[in-house]
Amino acid sequence: MKLSRRIGRIRPSATLSINAKAKALSRSGVSIINFGIGEPGFDTPENIRKAAMESICSGQTRYTAVGGIDELKDAVCGAVKADYGLSYGRENVLISCGGKHALYNLFMTLLDPGDEVIIPSPYWVSYPDMIDLAGAKQVIAPCTEKDGFMLQAADLERAITPNTRLLILNSPSNPTGKYYGADELKALAEVLLRHENVLIASDDIYYRILFGGRKWVSLGMVEEKLRGRIFIINGVSKTYCMTGWRIGYLIGDPMVIKAATDFQSQVTSNPSSISQWASVEALTGDQKSAVEMTQTFEKRCKLVLERISDLGEVSCVEPDGTFYVFPDFSAHFGKKFGGRTINGSLDLTDFLMEEAHVAVVPGNAFGEDNCLRFSYALSMEEIEQGFDAVKKALKKLGRG
Ligand SMILES: Cc1ncc(COP(=O)(O)O)c(C=O)c1O
Repeated sequence: MKLSRRIGRIRPSATLSINAKAKALSRSGVSIINFGIGEPGFDTPENIRKAAMESICSGQTRYTAVGGIDELKDAVCGAVKADYGLSYGRENVLISCGGKHALYNLFMTLLDPGDEVIIPSPYWVSYPDMIDLAGAKQVIAPCTEKDGFMLQAADLERAITPNTRLLILNSPSNPTGKYYGADELKALAEVLLRHENVLIASDDIYYRILFGGRKWVSLGMVEEKLRGRIFIINGVSKTYCMTGWRIGYLIGDPMVIKAATDFQSQVTSNPSSISQWASVEALTGDQKSAVEMTQTFEKRCKLVLERISDLGEVSCVEPDGTFYVFPDFSAHFGKKFGGRTINGSLDLTDFLMEEAHVAVVPGNAFGEDNCLRFSYALSMEEIEQGFDAVKKALKKLGRG
């Protein structure tokens, strides 16, 4: 059957296909250590689950307002006031089915064919395909390991053209875990102030998972004059282990929010009423579990970095947050095993799956073929076992 040209351009999610491969091997009796997972790996905290059950029992089971219930919009505004120090009202907020949906709504609302969107690379896997679906042009701005894989002001300046409509900034980043501090943001803000037609999508979905006592800072906090051009994308998925509940939000200019709400009204209507009530509790209730989760990830991150440096011939930018790390394995490219050559991140991913029984995500899915993404949403024991297996497997690779 003929499919649309639009759908023909979409690449299936690399993360999902790795997980499918890992599952298929597990079914055949092989035990896989899965560093490919893109979610925290803890249960949703009990107070949030209870709030969801109470909402069902009290009959909150019908359509809600398309853009979300006022209680959740108020909770979002309260969280943004507390964490960003910025004041927004209900008219600035659209509640959607996850951060991914919030991003897609924004792209569909703002972008026309011919518009250019700057995506710093390495990037989260879904940005390029979503931009493509919205009919706009991706402009990839490569960032180097030397710069911590972070967008430099000069590179931003070079990437901007008269057609640039949007810059996507993801901090802390999936896949690198790097976060833009105030100085880095100020340098980017200086460039953006010179180009007043460029809007900014600030994907802050990991903003509460920061290590080393780092304080949250974002573009709108360091440069007041940019605030009207910034759209914040956030949600409860990662901070509150609520990936399955599908609640995200978009914050920004009321006219754009209204248009994006109209778009959502024709596509999905409101996100799940029950998930919305659970999210009110997530944002306004006890924050202890979110804090504890970050502490756990920080401990795991230390272990992962130790184990990576022990692999030899692998370099790694130290993450500031999230639960990802993005080491460079390119020193192993060109090596051979069993008559086959490891030519890039895809080959190495396959090799590690088969020889180490370890699943990782190839860096080429994030626009950086030298690297592999490891998620450490695993126990300390699993991390140790996984890296033991990776080390053993890498020793089998040779130049001959
Ligand atoms: C950078 C980034 N943005 C957005 C999302 C989407 O989050 P959600 O599950 O809320 O749709 C993800 C999920 O992996 C992500 O990594």
